[in-house]
Amino acid sequence: MPIIAPSLLAADFLALGKACNMLNESEAEWFHLDVMDGCFVPNISYGLPIIEQIKSTTTKVMDVHLMIVTPEKYIAAFKKAGADILTVHYEACSHLHSTLQQIKAHGMKAGVALNPHTSVDLLKDVIQDIDVVCVMSVNPGFGGQQFIEHTYEKVKALKKLITAAGAATLIEIDGGVTENNAAALVAAGADVLVAGTTVFKASDPKQMISTLKLAK
Ligand code: DX5
Ligand code: ZN
Repeated sequence: MPIIAPSLLAADFLALGKACNMLNESEAEWFHLDVMDGCFVPNISYGLPIIEQIKSTTTKVMDVHLMIVTPEKYIAAFKKAGADILTVHYEACSHLHSTLQQIKAHGMKAGVALNPHTSVDLLKDVIQDIDVVCVMSVNPGFGGQQFIEHTYEKVKALKKLITAAGAATLIEIDGGVTENNAAALVAAGADVLVAGTTVFKASDPKQMISTLKLAK
Protein backbone atom coordinates (compact mmCIF):
# COMPACT_ATOMS: atom_id res chain seq x y z
CA MET A 1 0.00 0.00 0.00
CA PRO A 2 1.44 3.39 -0.92
CA ILE A 3 1.92 6.20 1.56
CA ILE A 4 -0.44 9.05 0.61
CA ALA A 5 0.91 12.59 0.88
CA PRO A 6 -1.80 15.14 0.02
CA SER A 7 -0.39 18.46 -1.16
CA LEU A 8 -1.96 21.41 0.67
CA LEU A 9 -1.14 23.62 -2.30
CA ALA A 10 -4.57 22.67 -3.66
CA ALA A 11 -6.41 23.36 -0.40
CA ASP A 12 -8.57 26.42 0.27
CA PHE A 13 -6.07 28.68 2.08
CA LEU A 14 -8.91 30.49 3.86
CA ALA A 15 -9.90 27.19 5.41
CA LEU A 16 -6.49 25.66 6.02
CA GLY A 17 -7.40 24.50 9.51
CA LYS A 18 -10.35 22.58 8.13
CA ALA A 19 -8.14 20.98 5.48
CA CYS A 20 -5.65 19.89 8.16
CA ASN A 21 -8.44 18.38 10.28
CA MET A 22 -9.73 16.49 7.25
CA LEU A 23 -6.23 15.09 6.60
CA ASN A 24 -5.83 14.18 10.27
CA GLU A 25 -9.02 12.11 10.11
CA SER A 26 -7.98 10.52 6.80
CA GLU A 27 -5.72 7.62 5.91
CA ALA A 28 -3.02 10.01 4.65
CA GLU A 29 0.26 9.47 6.49
CA TRP A 30 2.13 12.56 5.29
CA PHE A 31 1.33 16.25 4.76
CA HIS A 32 3.09 17.41 1.55
CA LEU A 33 4.07 21.09 1.80
CA ASP A 34 5.27 22.90 -1.33
CA VAL A 35 7.56 25.89 -0.82
CA MET A 36 8.22 28.02 -3.93
CA ASP A 37 10.45 31.06 -4.18
CA GLY A 38 9.59 32.62 -7.56
CA CYS A 39 13.19 31.99 -8.60
CA PHE A 40 13.79 28.24 -8.86
CA VAL A 41 10.20 27.95 -10.08
CA PRO A 42 7.98 30.60 -11.70
CA ASN A 43 5.55 30.76 -8.80
CA ILE A 44 5.48 31.72 -5.11
CA SER A 45 3.50 29.65 -2.60
CA TYR A 46 3.90 29.83 1.18
CA GLY A 47 6.74 29.57 3.67
CA LEU A 48 7.89 29.13 7.24
CA PRO A 49 5.07 30.75 9.30
CA ILE A 50 2.36 28.79 7.51
CA ILE A 51 4.27 25.53 7.91
CA GLU A 52 4.75 26.22 11.60
CA GLN A 53 1.00 26.70 12.02
CA ILE A 54 0.16 23.58 10.04
CA LYS A 55 2.57 21.60 12.23
CA SER A 56 0.62 22.68 15.31
CA THR A 57 -2.48 20.91 13.96
CA THR A 58 -0.98 17.48 13.35
CA THR A 59 1.24 14.64 14.49
CA LYS A 60 1.50 13.31 10.94
CA VAL A 61 4.74 13.45 8.95
CA MET A 62 5.55 16.94 7.62
CA ASP A 63 7.01 16.35 4.14
CA VAL A 64 8.45 19.69 3.01
CA HIS A 65 9.30 20.07 -0.68
CA LEU A 66 11.61 23.02 -1.24
CA MET A 67 11.42 24.46 -4.74
CA ILE A 68 13.90 27.18 -3.89
CA VAL A 69 17.46 28.17 -4.77
CA THR A 70 20.22 27.72 -2.15
CA PRO A 71 18.00 25.52 0.08
CA GLU A 72 21.01 24.84 2.34
CA LYS A 73 20.53 28.31 3.83
CA TYR A 74 17.16 27.37 5.32
CA ILE A 75 17.72 23.89 6.78
CA ALA A 76 17.67 25.01 10.42
CA ALA A 77 14.65 27.26 9.82
CA PHE A 78 12.54 24.48 8.30
CA LYS A 79 13.52 22.12 11.11
CA LYS A 80 12.32 24.74 13.59
CA ALA A 81 9.08 25.18 11.63
CA GLY A 82 8.36 21.45 11.98
CA ALA A 83 9.68 19.62 8.93
CA ASP A 84 10.22 15.88 9.38
CA ILE A 85 11.38 15.29 5.81
CA LEU A 86 13.20 18.07 3.97
CA THR A 87 13.42 17.66 0.20
CA VAL A 88 15.75 19.77 -1.92
CA HIS A 89 15.98 19.84 -5.70
CA TYR A 90 18.96 18.17 -7.36
CA GLU A 91 19.04 21.11 -9.79
CA ALA A 92 19.27 23.67 -6.95
CA CYS A 93 22.21 22.12 -5.09
CA SER A 94 25.88 22.65 -5.96
CA HIS A 95 26.95 20.45 -3.05
CA LEU A 96 24.15 17.94 -2.74
CA HIS A 97 26.08 15.43 -0.61
CA SER A 98 26.91 18.10 1.94
CA THR A 99 23.34 19.44 1.97
CA LEU A 100 21.96 15.95 2.62
CA GLN A 101 24.34 15.47 5.55
CA GLN A 102 23.29 18.83 6.99
CA ILE A 103 19.59 17.91 6.76
CA LYS A 104 20.27 14.67 8.64
CA ALA A 105 22.43 16.41 11.20
CA HIS A 106 19.36 18.52 11.99
CA GLY A 107 17.39 15.34 12.74
CA MET A 108 15.30 15.26 9.56
CA LYS A 109 15.00 12.72 6.75
CA ALA A 110 16.64 13.90 3.57
CA GLY A 111 14.82 14.03 0.24
CA VAL A 112 16.00 14.86 -3.28
CA ALA A 113 13.55 15.96 -5.98
CA LEU A 114 14.27 15.52 -9.68
CA ASN A 115 12.82 17.71 -12.41
CA PRO A 116 11.34 15.80 -15.35
CA HIS A 117 14.50 16.36 -17.42
CA THR A 118 16.91 15.12 -14.75
CA SER A 119 18.07 11.51 -15.08
CA VAL A 120 17.78 9.21 -12.07
CA ASP A 121 21.30 7.96 -12.91
CA LEU A 122 22.71 11.19 -11.47
CA LEU A 123 21.77 9.95 -7.99
CA LYS A 124 23.90 6.80 -8.19
CA ASP A 125 26.72 8.13 -6.03
CA VAL A 126 24.48 9.52 -3.28
CA ILE A 127 21.58 7.09 -3.23
CA GLN A 128 22.67 5.61 0.14
CA ASP A 129 22.37 9.10 1.63
CA ILE A 130 18.83 9.77 0.40
CA ASP A 131 15.74 8.78 2.39
CA VAL A 132 13.22 9.84 -0.27
CA VAL A 133 13.58 10.57 -3.99
CA CYS A 134 10.76 12.81 -5.19
CA VAL A 135 10.28 12.15 -8.89
CA MET A 136 8.56 15.18 -10.40
CA SER A 137 5.93 13.98 -12.83
CA VAL A 138 5.12 17.57 -13.88
CA ASN A 139 7.36 20.63 -14.13
CA PRO A 140 7.44 22.05 -10.62
CA GLY A 141 5.67 25.30 -9.81
CA PHE A 142 1.96 24.64 -10.16
CA GLY A 143 -0.69 22.19 -9.11
CA GLY A 144 -3.24 20.74 -11.48
CA GLN A 145 -0.91 19.93 -14.37
CA GLN A 146 -0.97 16.88 -16.58
CA PHE A 147 1.09 13.83 -15.61
CA ILE A 148 4.18 13.20 -17.78
CA GLU A 149 4.02 9.59 -19.00
CA HIS A 150 7.81 9.12 -19.15
CA THR A 151 7.70 9.05 -15.33
CA TYR A 152 6.99 5.31 -15.36
CA GLU A 153 10.37 4.61 -17.03
CA LYS A 154 12.13 6.82 -14.51
CA VAL A 155 10.48 5.09 -11.57
CA LYS A 156 11.46 1.64 -12.86
CA ALA A 157 15.08 2.73 -13.44
CA LEU A 158 15.23 4.37 -10.02
CA LYS A 159 13.82 1.27 -8.33
CA LYS A 160 16.59 -0.80 -9.97
CA LEU A 161 19.24 1.65 -8.84
CA ILE A 162 17.95 1.57 -5.24
CA THR A 163 17.72 -2.22 -5.17
CA ALA A 164 21.21 -2.64 -6.69
CA ALA A 165 22.64 -0.35 -4.01
CA GLY A 166 20.77 -2.18 -1.24
CA ALA A 167 19.40 1.19 -0.14
CA ALA A 168 16.13 1.80 1.75
CA THR A 169 15.25 4.94 -0.23
CA LEU A 170 11.54 5.59 -0.82
CA ILE A 171 10.26 6.70 -4.24
CA GLU A 172 7.72 9.54 -4.14
CA ILE A 173 5.75 10.72 -7.17
CA ASP A 174 4.73 14.37 -7.35
CA GLY A 175 2.42 15.92 -9.92
CA GLY A 176 -0.67 14.84 -11.80
CA VAL A 177 -1.31 11.77 -9.66
CA THR A 178 -4.90 10.57 -9.96
CA GLU A 179 -6.97 7.51 -9.08
CA ASN A 180 -6.36 6.41 -12.69
CA ASN A 181 -2.55 6.30 -12.68
CA ALA A 182 -1.93 5.47 -9.00
CA ALA A 183 -1.94 1.68 -9.44
CA ALA A 184 0.46 1.77 -12.39
CA LEU A 185 2.81 4.00 -10.42
CA VAL A 186 2.81 1.61 -7.47
CA ALA A 187 3.40 -1.32 -9.83
CA ALA A 188 6.38 0.55 -11.31
CA GLY A 189 7.89 0.98 -7.83
CA ALA A 190 6.37 4.06 -6.23
CA ASP A 191 6.17 4.06 -2.41
CA VAL A 192 4.63 7.51 -1.84
CA LEU A 193 1.97 9.30 -3.88
CA VAL A 194 1.60 13.07 -3.62
CA ALA A 195 -1.81 14.34 -4.70
CA GLY A 196 -3.07 17.90 -4.60
CA THR A 197 -5.87 18.53 -7.05
CA THR A 198 -7.04 14.90 -7.00
CA VAL A 199 -7.62 15.05 -3.25
CA PHE A 200 -8.77 18.61 -2.64
CA LYS A 201 -11.02 18.98 -5.67
CA ALA A 202 -12.70 15.62 -5.04
CA SER A 203 -16.31 15.73 -3.82
CA ASP A 204 -15.19 13.57 -0.89
CA PRO A 205 -11.45 14.21 -0.24
CA LYS A 206 -11.19 11.68 2.58
CA GLN A 207 -12.71 8.97 0.43
CA MET A 208 -10.34 9.89 -2.41
CA ILE A 209 -7.38 9.41 -0.07
CA SER A 210 -8.72 5.94 0.80
CA THR A 211 -9.12 5.16 -2.89
CA LEU A 212 -5.51 6.19 -3.63
CA LYS A 213 -4.35 4.13 -0.67
CA LEU A 214 -5.82 0.99 -2.23
CA ALA A 215 -3.75 1.41 -5.41
CA LYS A 216 -1.64 -1.67 -6.17
C1 DX5 B 1 4.14 21.07 -7.99
C2 DX5 B 1 4.13 20.59 -6.56
C3 DX5 B 1 3.14 19.54 -6.30
C4 DX5 B 1 1.72 19.94 -6.55
C5 DX5 B 1 1.01 18.73 -7.07
O1 DX5 B 1 5.22 21.91 -8.19
O2 DX5 B 1 5.38 20.08 -6.19
O3 DX5 B 1 3.28 18.97 -5.01
O4 DX5 B 1 1.06 20.42 -5.43
O5 DX5 B 1 -0.25 19.11 -7.46
P1 DX5 B 1 -1.21 18.15 -8.30
O6 DX5 B 1 -1.38 16.90 -7.51
O7 DX5 B 1 -2.43 18.97 -8.44
O8 DX5 B 1 -0.51 17.89 -9.62
ZN1 ZN C 1 5.55 18.95 -4.25
